[in-house]
Amino acid sequence: MDLRERFALSLLTLFLLQLCSLVHANLVFPVERKFKGPVNNLAAIKAHDAARRGRFLSVVDVPLGGNGRANSNGLYYTKIGLGSPPKDFYVQVDTGSDTLWVNCAGCATCPKKSGLGMDLTLYDSKDSKTSNLVSCDADFCTSTYDGPISGCTKDMACPYSITYGDGSTTTGSYVEDYLTFDKVNGDLRTVPDNSTVVFGCGVKQSGTLSSNNDESLDGIIGFGQANSSVLSQLAAAGKVKRVFSHCLDSRDGGGIFAIGEVVQPKVKTTALVPQMAHYNVVLKDMEVGGDPIQLPTDIFDSSNGRGTIIDSGTTLAYLPASIYDQLMEKILGWQKDMKLYLVEDQFTCFEYSEENVDKGFPTIKFTFEDGLSLSAYPHDYLFMFKAEMWCIGWQKSSSQTKDGKDLILLGDLVLSNKLVVYDLENMTIGWADYNCSSSIKVKDNKTGSVYTVGSHDLSLASNVLMGRILTFFLLLIAMLST
Ligand SMILES: *[C@@H]1O[C@H](CO)[C@@H](O)[C@H](O)[C@H]1NC(C)=O
Ligand SMILES: *[C@@H]1O[C@H](CO)[C@@H](O)[C@H](O)[C@H]1NC(C)=O
Ligand SMILES: *[C@@H]1O[C@H](CO)[C@@H](O)[C@H](O)[C@H]1NC(C)=O
Ligand SMILES: *[C@@H]1O[C@H](CO)[C@@H](O)[C@H](O)[C@H]1NC(C)=O
Ligand SMILES: *[C@@H]1O[C@H](CO)[C@@H](O)[C@H](O)[C@H]1NC(C)=O
Repeated sequence: MDLRERFALSLLTLFLLQLCSLVHANLVFPVERKFKGPVNNLAAIKAHDAARRGRFLSVVDVPLGGNGRANSNGLYYTKIGLGSPPKDFYVQVDTGSDTLWVNCAGCATCPKKSGLGMDLTLYDSKDSKTSNLVSCDADFCTSTYDGPISGCTKDMACPYSITYGDGSTTTGSYVEDYLTFDKVNGDLRTVPDNSTVVFGCGVKQSGTLSSNNDESLDGIIGFGQANSSVLSQLAAAGKVKRVFSHCLDSRDGGGIFAIGEVVQPKVKTTALVPQMAHYNVVLKDMEVGGDPIQLPTDIFDSSNGRGTIIDSGTTLAYLPASIYDQLMEKILGWQKDMKLYLVEDQFTCFEYSEENVDKGFPTIKFTFEDGLSLSAYPHDYLFMFKAEMWCIGWQKSSSQTKDGKDLILLGDLVLSNKLVVYDLENMTIGWADYNCSSSIKVKDNKTGSVYTVGSHDLSLASNVLMGRILTFFLLLIAMLST
């Protein structure tokens, strides 16, 4: 980890602390959303994204070792159980990687403390009656590595190693054990259930993954598209369909994360670009309050799958200069007399005293292939910096892929307060504006029953108040009778 990353991390820490105090301040001050109250450390938000994108862009630029996919650190995490009897592990929920791994016994380089407040746990195969080593000639291993590992002998473990864009790594071997999770079995009701899964037992971490820091957790659960993901494993076992969804509440910082078929709200969908490391979609049009933006043709080349990346671990939204400049001109055109300020050298801010920003500024509408649209409202993309001073969240992307093409990266700025449904069975993604503090309805495919899942049924995260804790539900669909 170089100094800049260290700096970015400490800024992120500051931001988290601030976020936390804002959330807590909610009891005293009428702060409605995490960014709506005075956020006077805007640079920290961007620093978080920069650190993240540092990792993120490595997907495009650097071929990664081990089982392949880059990881991207987000702030979402959940609690899962591993082993029997099950022990609790707090893992980051990450849509940018494929593997579940946790810190393991005997690890000298694993973090011992987390600024997030929970106790960290090492997975110890000796403490679990059901733990099994995955040998290097097992099917999981050979298919993950696309063939036999050279030098594999009978009792050798199947190794894993993931290198991230910021240079941090996790290394260890795969084990198989019980994963315990909450199964929805009634309206606002869950019961623990379990399934055997293969996951990484990490014995050597480096970089940000090895130090005690304010983001330290027990591991990461990847919700990428590969066969090695927990989602794919549960699907291969006939337990779930490869469908998951999230609803991130920008007001209280929590939300819903569910596996299974959502029947309410209904969402319109667009095709996911196949064979991409991330969730990519094809942008067709963009409008600012009904006024179209001239889109450059070269970046929306669906044949190579570029275009727009949907990434819930990024806080803001990043646009190429050619789009950003038009967008800002049109937004600011709505309030011609405003005096603009540059805050912390990077945010365009202005004084605005009206109560409701939605009345004074345009809605930004993105339209994707298949006619799916996504609206970002002024209250989503404007941040209150201090009393009567607002800043614009849209950012000019300075990053490019290796061949010089710009990326569009849409993060929480546009994804919050929407139910986003990833359907890997049909290779689609879709969303609908939604109140993420309310509830959704999911269907149990085995019985056909429809159940309500609420965001406040925080059975998994009751004693952790910081960070973005998602209620994590696994709805078992088409479960094989056992
Ligand atoms: C797995 O679930 C079954 C059925 O609920 C339960 O009897 C068993 O004890 C669980 N096993 C573990 C390891 O949690
Ligand atoms: C993933 O699993 C599916 C179903 O088991 C299989 O058809 C497919 O070939 C696998 N893909 C890879 C890349 O191994
Ligand atoms: C996939 O698409 C088919 C046909 O449009 C639809 O019936 C099915 O419900 C979709 N699958 C899921 C999991 O939504
Ligand atoms: C969202 O839903 C919650 C729970 O039902 C409710 O208390 C809240 O008022 C709703 N918020 C909005 C903006 O409708
Ligand atoms: C379960 O899913 C399958 C495949 O999508 C579908 O044909 C079947 O009708 C579903 N069953 C129920 C009870 O909804």
